[in-house]
Amino acid sequence: MCGIVGYLGKNGAKDILLEGLRRLEYRGYDSAGIAVWENSKIVISRSVGPLDALIEKTTAELLVGTAGIGHTRWATHGDVTEKNAHPHRSSDGKIVLVHNGVIENFSAIGKFLSEKGFSLSSETDSEVLANLIAYHYAKEPERENCNRFLESVRRALLHVRGTYGIVVLCADCPQEMVGARNSSPLVLGIGNGEYFLASDVAGFISRTRDAIFLNDHELVHIRGDDFSILTLNRERIAAVRQAVDWDLSAVELNGYRHFMLKEIFEQPKSLANAMRGRFFADGSTAHFGGLQMSPRELRHIDRIILCGCGSAWCACLAAEYLIEKFARIPVEVEYASEFRYRNAPMERNTLVLIISQSGETLDTLAALREAQRKGFRVLAITNGVGSSIAREADGGIYQHAGPEIGVASTKSFTSQLCIAALLALHLGRLRDLSYEEGTAIAEALRRLPQQVQETLKLSDSIRSVAERYRNCRDMLFLGRQAMFPIALEGALKLKEVSYVHAEGYAAAEMKHGPIALISPDCPAFFLACDGLTLEKTISNIHEVRARGARTIAVVPGGGTFPETTADDIIAVPEAHPAVQPILAAIPVQLFAYHMGVLRGCNVDRPRNLAKSVTVE
Ligand code: F6R
Repeated sequence: MCGIVGYLGKNGAKDILLEGLRRLEYRGYDSAGIAVWENSKIVISRSVGPLDALIEKTTAELLVGTAGIGHTRWATHGDVTEKNAHPHRSSDGKIVLVHNGVIENFSAIGKFLSEKGFSLSSETDSEVLANLIAYHYAKEPERENCNRFLESVRRALLHVRGTYGIVVLCADCPQEMVGARNSSPLVLGIGNGEYFLASDVAGFISRTRDAIFLNDHELVHIRGDDFSILTLNRERIAAVRQAVDWDLSAVELNGYRHFMLKEIFEQPKSLANAMRGRFFADGSTAHFGGLQMSPRELRHIDRIILCGCGSAWCACLAAEYLIEKFARIPVEVEYASEFRYRNAPMERNTLVLIISQSGETLDTLAALREAQRKGFRVLAITNGVGSSIAREADGGIYQHAGPEIGVASTKSFTSQLCIAALLALHLGRLRDLSYEEGTAIAEALRRLPQQVQETLKLSDSIRSVAERYRNCRDMLFLGRQAMFPIALEGALKLKEVSYVHAEGYAAAEMKHGPIALISPDCPAFFLACDGLTLEKTISNIHEVRARGARTIAVVPGGGTFPETTADDIIAVPEAHPAVQPILAAIPVQLFAYHMGVLRGCNVDRPRNLAKSVTVE
């Protein structure tokens, strides 16, 4: 939520900041702004709307300085207006800051500051923080061995309750920049004679891959050619530099019209990456390097709690079906936002498994911390290398799906399902799953990238289906068993990117209420790929059609599904139940994508959404 970027070097800051913001725009796009050093002054330029508006505005502005900060906003406090856009300057003109997060005690601090003579011109919590730093800066004496600017930021943060990733400039210190984080990400990029700070490495990946991921309660002070990292308690940190292994093409469109489509088409590769090196030599099971649990410990798990938000929560639900079916371990699925406050009773050998693409979702991180606080072991499945969740979990599995720029999850969702299948296989083989059953699952997984490639060829025909439904206002997504989570994900995807109201239900539940919605104006999208319940699902399709609604059905190929059962049939390759949900998810993503494009929506940046939700 909100992308922040900072630059200090020898090149023109304006273009570097705007490029960084372009790559971070998925984090928020209500308004944007930059502040650049110019003739010994910090000049701020801001505008409402997506980054293009800021680029247009700043084209005429010189802004030739070689240091600056930038921000792309997802509004939390205050309307989407220019005065609420970042960067914010303190009323005494000394401090300029960009902020991602929420300052919870901002009104108490604001009151204190107004008594001290500071004034606020926006409705944001961030401007309060800029002024609080300025207050400490004014108070802080010049001292030997203590940088006044850094110290004022540090002291201000000691009084702050809430979350922040910040980058700060000081009007008296043209060669300095301070960053800090608490529950909102911040990464330092170390280039050739230049430094970057950004919410994620995408913000500077075109200029360096040498990065340091800051931890909570750490500050970074960049000063000329040097930098130092310290804690809020002033302890020096010897930070670990990491080489980021993305290439630039991963964050560019490469000829695709949208990131969402590009990422849908990347799935054969992202699935292959999720499995790479994870099959055991005997071909009947999987293994993982990062679980930090012995086979004996894994055998002793008697319950798993799966936690996530949004699509990651749908992936948790899909994982429940897989783990219970193949590993026979009882599983419960929780919304991270509920779990963190629910004080759920948990048994001794419960394992908590967190799923999060970004690894930064605040509620999911809070759920992880709550489980750890109670002494439970927490593993994480995440795509966010070096993310907060990756670092704080007791062990875990990286997705290796590559950066996902489209706001709607696509390749990260299927890669989570794939890892869930591998994990179910691993846990199952430690228990009662036979060598033959294990081998069948492993072989099905190996075939998966090729089958996904086949499924992607349906894109044009799915676009034709979408053309027939583009004007509908509501839609139901229905599926049984392991297809139920895919139905939920399908409804979520359609809502997000096409603004068609959609609900997902377990198909049999339809008769207990949602059937009242069924009408010629409310079509139903069936996920009819669960072999065991196929006949029942076919009956549900008949029930819907008998009430005048049009129906779409995703079915396994091979001709077992009677052709006239649904108005539109999308046949995907037939596969083992462990991987069939992944194949069923592809048409659902393509349908949502084409619906969104046909309806003129910005599928990569749907209204009101942001990719990484770092507020509660
Ligand atoms: C939906 C979507 C969101 C995320 C959710 C969790 O397409 O992308 O619902 O799944 O915000 O995000 P992560 O997985 O980063 O924790």
